[in-house]
Amino acid sequence: MKIRLIEPADANDHLAFTQQLDNETSYMLMEPGERKPTANQHQHMVNEFIMKDRLVLFIVEDAGTVVGHAMGVGGSTIRNCRTASVVIGLLPAYHRLGIGKRLLRHLEAWAKERRLRRLELTVIEDNTGARALYEHFGFQEEGVKQDSLFAHGTYVNEIMMAKLL
Ligand SMILES: CC(C)(COP(=O)(O)OP(=O)(O)OC[C@H]1O[C@@H](n2cnc3c(N)ncnc32)[C@H](O)[C@@H]1OP(=O)(O)O)[C@@H](O)C(=O)NCCC(=O)NCCS
Repeated sequence: MKIRLIEPADANDHLAFTQQLDNETSYMLMEPGERKPTANQHQHMVNEFIMKDRLVLFIVEDAGTVVGHAMGVGGSTIRNCRTASVVIGLLPAYHRLGIGKRLLRHLEAWAKERRLRRLELTVIEDNTGARALYEHFGFQEEGVKQDSLFAHGTYVNEIMMAKLL
């Protein structure tokens, strides 16, 4: 299992991974089948993550296949550029192996190198595994976004969490 920065040649594998993740977990933003960028659009997005200093995308690779990722998206203005939002996801076969914690360590090191002050994220209220990971890593709850998502025919809350560095 290797964690490394994404490279241009990973774009197709990474797209297939994100689509598989949408199919296999119900805690990401998109419904299964909803994510449909063309290969070119996805390549463009990956290239942006490689070129822009305020963006980062780590992938988890197992036997040459992408099985997880973590992204950091820093703000683009002078006032919000010391904050980055975080998204993390692993295929279910790779849960509870300590990889989530390792990914957060990579994101935190990236953020500290850039002197960021704050990492933030939202997590669906009943995603107890992810909430436990974030708390374990020092994130604190800041509030509830009531009925912010509509999933499986019902409204669900998201919890806002952040860690000051
Ligand atoms: C959430 C997610 C990233 C966690 O990653 P992970 O690699 O399984 O977590 P780790 O193995 O690093 O766990 C670290 C600690 O977090 C806590 N934790 C993680 N998953 C947990 C779970 N399902 N239940 C309870 N505690 C959990 C534990 O304290 C754990 O330490 P321990 O294993 O020594 O007890 C992973 O489950 C995932 O990708 N889920 C699907 C997508 C998703 O929900 N993404 C988050 C969207 S906000």
